Amino acid sequence: MQRLESRHALLTGAGGGIGLAVTEAYLAEGARCTAVDVAAQPGPALASLLARHGDRLAYLQADVTRLDTLAALVDGAAVRFGTVDVLFNNAAVFDMAPLLESDAAMYERVFDVNVKGMFFVMQAVLARLVATGRPGSIVNLASQAGRRGEALVAHYCASKAAVISYTQSAALAMAPHRIRVNAIAPGVIDTPMWQGVDALFARYEGLAPGEKKIAVGKAVPLGHMGAPADIAGAAVFLASDESSYITAQTLNVDGGNVMS
Ligand SMILES: NC(=O)c1ccc[n+]([C@@H]2O[C@H](COP(=O)([O-])OP(=O)(O)OC[C@H]3O[C@@H](n4cnc5c(N)ncnc54)[C@H](O)[C@@H]3O)[C@@H](O)[C@H]2O)c1
Repeated sequence: MQRLESRHALLTGAGGGIGLAVTEAYLAEGARCTAVDVAAQPGPALASLLARHGDRLAYLQADVTRLDTLAALVDGAAVRFGTVDVLFNNAAVFDMAPLLESDAAMYERVFDVNVKGMFFVMQAVLARLVATGRPGSIVNLASQAGRRGEALVAHYCASKAAVISYTQSAALAMAPHRIRVNAIAPGVIDTPMWQGVDALFARYEGLAPGEKKIAVGKAVPLGHMGAPADIAGAAVFLASDESSYITAQTLNVDGGNVMS
């Protein structure tokens, strides 16, 4: 028995490193998947998954910051594969700067996607689950950055702390409806996002390109950066009935970086 058979999962940021790996894992566990990303067309890796799993995988272009489009997005996904039971709420952007230069434009860019988009996609999925009386599971993507501030990363860290808090509030609100809401806090995972992170640290800490990536990998207790697939096990577990008595939690998947 596959663990997500008969589930319909909607994954945002599905064209990125972690989103793609989790889409693949959900498909392997028997789910029907709607992959959502802001890109007009799926990138090569997602296109190849679509070619192999076209009967159980659809791609929908959407910008999660466009709140007026989210109801149509979730309803559109349901037309193809039925009510969304699992949300992998993963789309996000990263930016950083010294605190005194962390301006309002950066704040808006980061909070629009990571907090506003995250919350209202979740709300749109929850509203439909409550209306149909179906159980469900939400998995929000937080970060180790949401556990502790960083001098150069104030807006992003705060946005991920907000993900942890919204996860707790939504879990309490949804518990009577048999809908569980949890989050994953990845550590340092080698994805396209980290290429940008590395370049920004190089600029602000005067490092050579690639130097920060090597340093953060060495500092992980397990000795290396994670791969996107390292998030897949937790993502499947939290989506499936194996975690049926777990809600309101943020699970660290970080090689031992954070202990809580
Ligand atoms: N990579 C890491 O080390 C790391 C660490 C902690 C947390 N995270 C979190 O994990 C999640 C996935 O990160 P990743 O490393 O795979 O990033 P990524 O940059 O590889 O993927 C993010 C995806 O989100 C999409 N996206 C961005 N803005 C969007 C929007 N407005 N609407 C729809 N889609 C949008 C991008 O197009 C991209 O495909 C994010 O929430 C990130 O904050 C990542």
